Parts: sequence; structure tokens; C-alpha cells
Amino acid sequence: MEKVDKGIFIKDIVSGERITGVFCVGAKNLLKKRDGSPFLGITLVDSSGQIEARIWDDAERHFEAFKKGDFISVDAEAVEFNQKIQLKINGLRQVPGEGVDISHFLPTSPCDLDKAWNKVERAIKEIKDASLRVLLTNIFKDTGIKKAFKSAPAAKRLHHAYIGGLLEHVANLLDLVKLVVKKYSHLKKDILVAASILHDIGKIRELSWKTPPIDYTDEGRLLGHINIGIEIVDRALGEIGLNQNTGSILVLKHIILSHHGQREYGSPVLPMTEEAMVFHLLDDMDAKLNFLSGLKDVNRENEEGYRWSDYQRLFERYFYLPPEDREFWGKEKGASEDKREEPSQPGLWDFK
Ligand SMILES: [Fe+2]
Ligand SMILES: [Fe+2]
Repeated sequence: MEKVDKGIFIKDIVSGERITGVFCVGAKNLLKKRDGSPFLGITLVDSSGQIEARIWDDAERHFEAFKKGDFISVDAEAVEFNQKIQLKINGLRQVPGEGVDISHFLPTSPCDLDKAWNKVERAIKEIKDASLRVLLTNIFKDTGIKKAFKSAPAAKRLHHAYIGGLLEHVANLLDLVKLVVKKYSHLKKDILVAASILHDIGKIRELSWKTPPIDYTDEGRLLGHINIGIEIVDRALGEIGLNQNTGSILVLKHIILSHHGQREYGSPVLPMTEEAMVFHLLDDMDAKLNFLSGLKDVNRENEEGYRWSDYQRLFERYFYLPPEDREFWGKEKGASEDKREEPSQPGLWDFK
């Protein structure tokens, strides 16, 4: 199969230009113009983002010609509409999926995922609590689970919403747990390590990412990753003949169930152990920091010197994105560069 030339990436599209490129169809809708005649609204996706596109003429015929998830080669003009760039499509043709490089169409973790997986394997081996170690080892003996765990995103949007996002999130949490138990040595490290690895494992079935865009599965919407995660754990416990609700297994399951911290965020129980409380805070921190760093990238790339994010409805605020220049941060010109402090535990910035 001949390789398909990707053409332009969405992030490089500039208003006023004529572009050609291959994109994945994220959504398509038959809409109505003011005079009642139809036009086609399409959301196009690639690894750099998404963009709205319009086909003004012959909408019904084009509507039938392709479906969500198809790859299409597009010839279009980039125009500005409501302060956003939109594509006015002049011509398109379908492109066979086998010829495209999928990494051009789905964003991928910036981390070294092999290193991150090694970290997970090492962490499992170092667990002293036999029940937890056997449980984790058994779950990842399933090659289907292991493969999905290594490539799953951690979310559809918001945080770590890219290939390998789940593994990156888990590896970050393992690093954070290391730091926290060093300071608060009474905390049970084994539980926190097991929770880091398993708390979001249900996402391997909650989300689909084989073709763009990342989306929820039916099972994911109807059950949610917390329930699916508990199911995966219970099945493994059944296979190895461990009691499902005693000792460290019981408190691990409590963390999986409570890690969202509040009932309105999907946790059926509130964190009720010290480790559950700590774990919720670490999970929340890693998710939020990942989201905020993404915000910075988007806005910096769009407009040089941009100081404020778009309004973030989830957080009910704008975020101030200060510049990197030395004057702003009170450093005198010519002063020696700050050296980033070495992490006290190796590995925290290992795979950035
Ligand atoms: Fe979660
Ligand atoms: Fe999480």
C-alpha cells in the first residue's frame, strides 16, 4: 500500500491561505443555511488539533460520501469566522486508511513510553505486599490488557488526552508517590504504588483510540472507568483465588473507587483512609498540571506574547500565562542561568 502524503497539519493553517492536506473526519453534520438549503459542517482532526470545515454546495451528496473516522484529502481555503480559522472546502476525496500514518492523526505522549513501562514493571517487582504484587503481576500477564495499557489515552479531553497518556500519568504518579512517602514515611507505599498503576486501568475499555478521534466506548459511557477497573481487579482476584475484600486488597479497591474525591465527580465513596486522601490529591494534581501545561502550549503557539488563556469553563476562570523572559521574573540580564534543581529521587523528570 502506497504511503499517503499528509500535507499540512492543522496547527500550521493560516487564515487566508489555500491548503491541501489529509485529515480524519471527527464529526459531520448536515446543517441549514438561513434560506433553508443544506450545508455540510465537518470537524477535521489530526495529531496537531482539530478544525471546523464547511461544504456549502452539494451538501447532501458529500454527506453520503464519507463517514466519521474516514480519512479525506481536502483542498480548501482557510477563512476566519468568529475569531477562529475555518476551512471552506472546494474539493475532497477519500483516502484509504491503510496508507496513512496513524501517528499523524492522533496526538502522542511526549514521554519515552518504553521507559515509563519499565518504571511500572520495576514498581510492581518492588511491592512487598504479596497480595498486591501477585494481583498486579496477574493483571498484566494478560497481553491484551498490557498492550492497551501501554497505548491508552488517559482521557478524551482535559488531561493526558493522547496515545500513551494513561501510562505517562501512571509513571508521574509513581514518581510523586516516591517523593511523598519520603516525606511522610508512615504512609503505606505499596498501596499507593498499586493505586497509581490500577486506579485508571478501566480507561482501557472506557475509551477508544484505534481511529481518531479519541472517544468514549458504549461500555465506557454506561459504566465508567471506575466500575470497569473494579471489574478487571475482581476478575484477576478470582483467577488467582484471592479474597476480594480483605486487607490490602480492600483498601486498594477503596482507592480505585474513591480516587475522584467527590461523588459528583463519579466516585461512589469518599476517600476514607489517609492513603486514599493522599492519592486523590496526587491524581488531581497530575491531571490539572498536565491540562494547564497544554493550555500554555496552545496559546503560546497561536499568538506571540499571549498572556491569557481562553475562558476555561471547567475551572470558571481565565489563566494568566506569564512570559518566559528574564525581565518579567526579576532576573538581571547577564546573570547566570538558573540550574534546574536535580530531583532528589531519580526519575521524576526522567522521560520528559
Ligand atoms: Fe479516574
Ligand atoms: Fe488518574
